[in-house]
Amino acid sequence: MALLEYEKLSIALPGMARPVLDGIDLTVSAGEVVALVGESGSGKSVTARSALGLFPAGASVVGQVRVDGRELVGADAADLRAVRTGTATMIFQDPRAGINPVRRIGDFLTESLRVSHGWAKDRARARAAELLGAVGLPDPARHLRQYPHELSGGMLQRVMIASALTAEPRLLLCDEPTTALDVSTQAEIMAILGRLQRERGLGMLLITHDIELAAAACDRIYVMYAGRIVETAPTAELFATPQHPYTAGLLGSSPPLQAPEGPPARLTPIPGSPMGLLDSAPGCSFAARCRFARPGVCDQSPPPLERNGEALVACHLADELAPRRPTHMRWRTVDHRN
Ligand SMILES: Nc1ncnc2c1ncn2[C@@H]1O[C@H](COP(=O)(O)OP(=O)(O)OP(=O)(O)O)[C@@H](O)[C@H]1O
Ligand SMILES: [Mg+2]
Repeated sequence: MALLEYEKLSIALPGMARPVLDGIDLTVSAGEVVALVGESGSGKSVTARSALGLFPAGASVVGQVRVDGRELVGADAADLRAVRTGTATMIFQDPRAGINPVRRIGDFLTESLRVSHGWAKDRARARAAELLGAVGLPDPARHLRQYPHELSGGMLQRVMIASALTAEPRLLLCDEPTTALDVSTQAEIMAILGRLQRERGLGMLLITHDIELAAAACDRIYVMYAGRIVETAPTAELFATPQHPYTAGLLGSSPPLQAPEGPPARLTPIPGSPMGLLDSAPGCSFAARCRFARPGVCDQSPPPLERNGEALVACHLADELAPRRPTHMRWRTVDHRN
């Protein structure tokens, strides 16, 4: 049984032309690191929050999301509490947004241990110090007495990771955990998350718009566009042979979908802009931006997500485009477990 499992999850908001999420199928097994990538507004955060049973106010929700077998769509308070305080936990982009600036780090970290778990103060402080050590903060006793403004963004994100671990979760939902940090701090935070994930055998869903970051950290990648999964494959396959034109676009170029005798590789941005909630299309959502789109085919019905080799891909032209992929053109060798 998958630790996290979405089955045809659709979320629609009143007054919008298209759903925020449209039939999402996604799984994360215990101990597996999975990335969800896509442009801004594609629905990544809404997907992640759904795994805690947090749906947009007023939305109609159809389909299923299960964490460790517990259904979250229509769940009662007891099931929601069980998932949120025991199984799954989330790390957000901006650590300062999730912490009260006038409370000490120690009070922030010990609160849930004392309130939810009923631990005595000394025991909770000892555990908080231990967790600060585990996320690589040099002087846990001093950091427990500090206020958030006394810590850098990178240090504070470590505090948030420590806080996420207080519940001994089995599933870590990381929503752009390094986007607000500088490049070298990003690498440190990713290294800490990777180490904790391996040591504790956590299932992890890493949300990012950075496909390179996803490749470095993850076993499998899901690519999302306008609320739909358009491709998923093991990381090495996705990089070597992206099958959806949007995936190829995210990788910075379109050459993988050209014939070997086609023009030489060059970096090409994806033209146009992402589809907002007030836009809809009867066919493939990406068709308006896709240089392969064929009138009468791609604009007729949404392409289903179908197996093509090791990947699942939602493209009406996948059978045609995929065999033309040049086998000699490998993007790079990705060793994503280092
Ligand atoms: N609570 C909400 N109420 C109304 N609309 C929402 C709500 N949450 C998200 N949306 C809309 O749903 C769409 C998907 O949002 P989401 O935050 O999941 O995108 P994202 O892929 O995480 O983007 P980003 O990379 O910018 O974080 C957006 O158009 C957003 O405006
Ligand atoms: Mg987001």
